[in-house]
Amino acid sequence: MKCCHVIDKDDNIFRKMIKQCTEKDFLEMYGIINDAARKYAGKIPADRWHEPYMPEEELRHEIQDGAVFWGYYSPKLVGVMGIQDKGDVALIRHAYVTPKEQGRGIGGELIEKLKNQTEKPILVGTWKATTWAISFYEKHGFEEVDEETKNFLLRKYWSIPERQVATSTVLADSASMKKFSAARRSSSQGQPLRSSAARQLPTRAGISSPDTGGLL
Ligand SMILES: CC(C)(COP(=O)(O)OP(=O)(O)OC[C@H]1O[C@@H](n2cnc3c(N)ncnc32)[C@H](O)[C@@H]1OP(=O)(O)O)[C@@H](O)C(=O)NCCC(=O)NCCS
Repeated sequence: MKCCHVIDKDDNIFRKMIKQCTEKDFLEMYGIINDAARKYAGKIPADRWHEPYMPEEELRHEIQDGAVFWGYYSPKLVGVMGIQDKGDVALIRHAYVTPKEQGRGIGGELIEKLKNQTEKPILVGTWKATTWAISFYEKHGFEEVDEETKNFLLRKYWSIPERQVATSTVLADSASMKKFSAARRSSSQGQPLRSSAARQLPTRAGISSPDTGGLL
């Protein structure tokens, strides 16, 4: 747990802290995610935009599925970011800072904290259209992978519809870039990345189907 004191514009001293979110934070997390996600409106493909962007049941599913959310408290929750263990890699999931606090280093502190939670190669997926998020991740040591590697990684580690694969990008921590390109090349030798039968993405108990739902 990281903690220190900060002074606001009215000279109030309070503690800020990064720690794991708990069940009692759920509604605040839900609020922050969906407030911050409004930035996507008009930028991501219109057919992928919906409000709320992440319904409550989707957020619950993500937590049950292993996404561990960390929060930035100052002292109330103002930003969240998840990390999910996927066996040979870890994914950064759902990075959101409440709109009026964006651009003040909160996301940066969260991602640095999460990077220290794992020794595994780290991947993060986002919409191709979210240029601000791509530049945020690049500032924190991530690089965009090439298109074929991106398609391979999204199909391997995420449960998202094909439409979202096409309109998303993946960044990898710089140290692991070569590893991911090599994995994609070896998987494509001799057989297509996905057979037509595999085109049906895993359906997540009423939440995700090949054509709807599924968030990065
Ligand atoms: C992306 C996000 C989590 C970053 O958190 P943050 O606290 O705003 O980021 P920081 O202040 O640590 O870093 C700022 C950098 O992030 C980028 N950035 C992203 N959104 C920004 C915003 N609204 N205002 C300012 N900078 C932003 C810029 O590259 C900026 O660098 P700069 O200050 O040198 O211009 C946050 O802006 C957010 O919630 N955005 C909307 C939702 C989103 O796009 N989430 C990403 C999902 S993959």
